[in-house]
Amino acid sequence: MQLPRKVSIIGTGSYVPERVLTNHDLEKMVDTTDEWIYARTGMRERHIAAENEAASDLGAAAAVKALEDAGVSAEEIDLIIVATLSPDMFFPSTACFVQEKIGAKNAFCYDLGAACSGFLYALDAAKNQIAAGAVETALVIGSEKMSTFVDWEDRSTCILFGDGAGAAVLKAGGEGRGIMQSVMGSDGGLADLLMTPGGGSRTPISHEMIEQKQQYLTMQGREVFKHAVTRMAEAVVQALEKNEISADDINCFIPHQANIRIIDAIAKRLGVADRMYTNVEKYANTSSAALAIALDEAVKDGTITKGDLVVLTVFGGGFTWGANVLEWGK
Ligand code: ACO
Repeated sequence: MQLPRKVSIIGTGSYVPERVLTNHDLEKMVDTTDEWIYARTGMRERHIAAENEAASDLGAAAAVKALEDAGVSAEEIDLIIVATLSPDMFFPSTACFVQEKIGAKNAFCYDLGAACSGFLYALDAAKNQIAAGAVETALVIGSEKMSTFVDWEDRSTCILFGDGAGAAVLKAGGEGRGIMQSVMGSDGGLADLLMTPGGGSRTPISHEMIEQKQQYLTMQGREVFKHAVTRMAEAVVQALEKNEISADDINCFIPHQANIRIIDAIAKRLGVADRMYTNVEKYANTSSAALAIALDEAVKDGTITKGDLVVLTVFGGGFTWGANVLEWGK
């Protein structure tokens, strides 16, 4: 039997749209304050895509940077996976639009839906396809235009989200252990706590559905908060056990960037507050893009360097969650 191959991330990139929406801007749109938003979420501002920018535009911009960082041409990519809950359209996949934009004509492409957990799920899927020998080089993207799917009149949700994209190039081989074993889980029984109820085959687009604002994201914030802390903390512990690594040996923890209080609570449970990476202040919650953007920034600002052990953890609608460990080999 052929043994699985080692797989490494050889390049990362990210892109956020030009327009910045601050908490002070939000004060003029809904009944809120900068103080309330910052105290409850740790967010100061978020980026909002232009009308003519869709998820594939953001994703392609991040992908071009990741390819450049990896020193890989678009033609060398065998597989593109885009994690998104705000695709350009139901079909074709956003991944196919990205392929066309970057000229990755030799790739096969698909989207992956795991809400905010999507980038970690996609990383795991691409890694396993490379490890099994099915493909050599993969491009994994998390890309979101969340601004399309939030109700800008609902202060309890619209303050939380932003637009952006992050990408990683994966290849067989590399130094160190590369991408290790993931732990992932889902609980469809809690789907109704975080969802976009309308617009699909359950509740198709209709005048009534639009009047009821079912095309927008709905959330039970407190419940989501509790589950996010518990599931991410558990997943990190399980991923460390599975890969036989101690938390003390980890150089950097990158959690899903949903809320600074969620991140602080996980850090406290795990006793790793000194090594938690966060950029939620600048971008708010960019769903499946958040982990990808944070990973790219942590590498580019020197937080992660060669030989470092890094833990990634995510939580999102579904519910879905997971964690993984990487040894950075670049
Ligand atoms: N500005 C001012 N007041 C507000 C705002 C706002 N933007 N939003 C809600 N409030 C009010 C509420 O109306 C409520 O008022 P009341 O006490 O008079 O009824 C009060 O503030 C408290 O509201 P809560 O919802 O209980 O506030 P909480 O402390 O739970 O914070 C928050 C809300 C920030 C949404 C929090 O629950 C949270 O972050 N949950 C996690 C949700 C999340 O991250 N979801 C993202 C998607 S999933 C994921 O990515 C993990």
